[in-house]
Amino acid sequence: MTRSYDDLFRQSIDDPTAFWAAAAEGIDWVKRWDTVLDASKPPFYRWFRGGELNTCYNAVDRHADGGRGDQPAIIYDSPVTDTIETITYRDLKDRVARFAGVLRSLGVGVGDRVIIYLPMIPQAPIAMLACARLGAIHSVVFGGFAPNELATRINDAKPKVIVSASCGIEVNRVIAYKPMLDQAIELATHKPERCVIFQRPQVTAELVAGRDVDWADAAAGAAPVECVPVAATDPLYILYTSGTTGQPKGVVRDNGGHAVAMRWTMKHIYNVDPGEVYWAASDVGWVVGHSYIVYAPLIHGCTTVVFEGKPVGTPDAGVFWRVISQHKVGTLFTAPTAFRAIKREDPEGALIGTYDLSGFRALFLAGERSDPDTLRWAETRLNVPVIDHWWQTETAWAICGNPLGVQKFPVKHGSATKPMPGWNVRVVNPENEEVKRGDIGALVVRLPMPPGALPTLWNADERFINAYMSEYPGYYQTGDAGFMDDDDYVYVMTRTDDIINVAGHRLSTGAMEEVLSAHKDVAECAVVGVADDLKGQVPLGFLVLKAGVARDDADIVREVVQMVREQIGPVAAFKQAVVVKRLPKTRSGKILRGTMQKIADSKEYKMPATIDDPAILPEIAEALRSLGYARDSAGAGA
Ligand code: COA
Ligand code: AMP
Repeated sequence: MTRSYDDLFRQSIDDPTAFWAAAAEGIDWVKRWDTVLDASKPPFYRWFRGGELNTCYNAVDRHADGGRGDQPAIIYDSPVTDTIETITYRDLKDRVARFAGVLRSLGVGVGDRVIIYLPMIPQAPIAMLACARLGAIHSVVFGGFAPNELATRINDAKPKVIVSASCGIEVNRVIAYKPMLDQAIELATHKPERCVIFQRPQVTAELVAGRDVDWADAAAGAAPVECVPVAATDPLYILYTSGTTGQPKGVVRDNGGHAVAMRWTMKHIYNVDPGEVYWAASDVGWVVGHSYIVYAPLIHGCTTVVFEGKPVGTPDAGVFWRVISQHKVGTLFTAPTAFRAIKREDPEGALIGTYDLSGFRALFLAGERSDPDTLRWAETRLNVPVIDHWWQTETAWAICGNPLGVQKFPVKHGSATKPMPGWNVRVVNPENEEVKRGDIGALVVRLPMPPGALPTLWNADERFINAYMSEYPGYYQTGDAGFMDDDDYVYVMTRTDDIINVAGHRLSTGAMEEVLSAHKDVAECAVVGVADDLKGQVPLGFLVLKAGVARDDADIVREVVQMVREQIGPVAAFKQAVVVKRLPKTRSGKILRGTMQKIADSKEYKMPATIDDPAILPEIAEALRSLGYARDSAGAGA
């Protein structure tokens, strides 16, 4: 008998041990756990203590050897190189085992870190799975980050080996990765012993003798290796995400809890069965890519699509529908920004009708708030459930969603629906008291969090406590604010920190401010996220110049734009800044970023009671109008 959401949710909160022990039956264990939940050192909770398993075995070998050998595990679809390649579970096992052999021959073993800096090619999941096979810890860095960001991650993770490629392809631009990798290693204080480079036909990278190894050569001569059992509590990967400073946070994922959660979500949240084709149109550099391009679909025995392209321009706004119909995709997961891009190019959705989408069952959106317009457009054009669900790098899977495999709740536009089993979501005020239904507060999760959620930050237990656990004792602080309605639907409205979401990519405005303030002519600066029709938000900089600087403002703006591109990367999409005489501040000197953002977005704002000099705000509005913002600035409301 299928159990109701209420029944599952209640058990997950009242008796998490029984709930997750049952879910753990979906995983093959080398040794079963001694304790389902070790809660002896809160807020450090550990799932399946004493258990041993191998995540790669669960994602690959058990399917390759268990009746799915001929089933496609990965379909690589690359409109930018005009390539389609199908990799069966049997092929995948062979390629992963041999690449694990390459890594082992370079000295990689249990607990060693391997950084993976690759575009969306099959070598990315193969390298991740090869690390998992060896019990090594991978850390994938998104290709759109600049060498400086890569260097920061190298210094923190201290990898023995880095795996990269000669290039990535952005629509029709070839981006050489190897010079960026070389520059990052040059900048980093920690030096990896070896690099493995996958040479793509578009660019041949120069290899550094004695350090760099050619992927194809090394794999050809490598001995395949078997899966190494690791502790359930051992780290599977580190994924860096933006924190409130330029220093990213290394989110740690364990092996056991993660595997259990990934498997459980595929049926219960996405209603997908083994053997079906599941497509997360994201990038392996993000958590969505880790969880739903690689681990969850493979652990569940599905076929996953590795797509190297964009929703538009590769070649047109019909590419998503082409991929869905050609590969018989049942479920698509992407960010709302992808749909805004498609809607902009094909407002009527005319291209949808030119493909057979009869096997397409559901669309899931996450990464940023789904605006009701985009949701409605997708619903009416696709005629399938369109599900907004809310999650974070830290959580690995949805905190709130509409669990199609359990029961489908009516969709309320603007809400990510209800807390998923395991996630005891509360809305609290600064005193850590629950607010009334409908009132906005901080979104927090009662501890312990379910399996899959981060156990800590890499080498930074103290920062883990300070960033997530100290402000609301007994709860995990999500960093998001929102409200819950009378039907337990959760509405995620905004971040409470300096994180902004640009095209579904999480970025820190604080990190951008660090770059701007390093410009020789800049005395003070602020960066805020302003509304953007396509990307949801884009960063906008305010610069106050040092006294006596007589240079052209436009030159300085150009330079700071270039600095952010070089130091953080093109993914930051930092393209605009404005020079102002001064910044609005409180009397205690805190910059009023929220007010500047509201002015830019032409939203009504309250004159902050603590503002030092109210006369600055019209100056800010004037400067913003020069960039096309604050057009019908509502001014200070009551
Ligand atoms: N390697 C190198 N550069 C990269 C890159 C990569 N892997 N990924 C992105 N970039 C560059 C882009 O080329 C672009 O550079 P530009 O400023 O020179 O144009 C910049 O980083 C910003 O990229 P992006 O955010 O992708 O913007 P876009 O304008 O190229 O495309 C969308 C906009 C909406 C089509 C695109 O963001 C998209 O497809 N989003 C899908 C959602 C998604 O993947 N979300 C992830 C979390 S689910
Ligand atoms: P990331 O860690 O990159 O996945 O980004 C996580 C952040 O993206 C969250 O803290 C939210 O601010 C935002 N986010 C993700 N999904 C949603 C959603 N469905 N609705 C609103 N915001 C979301």
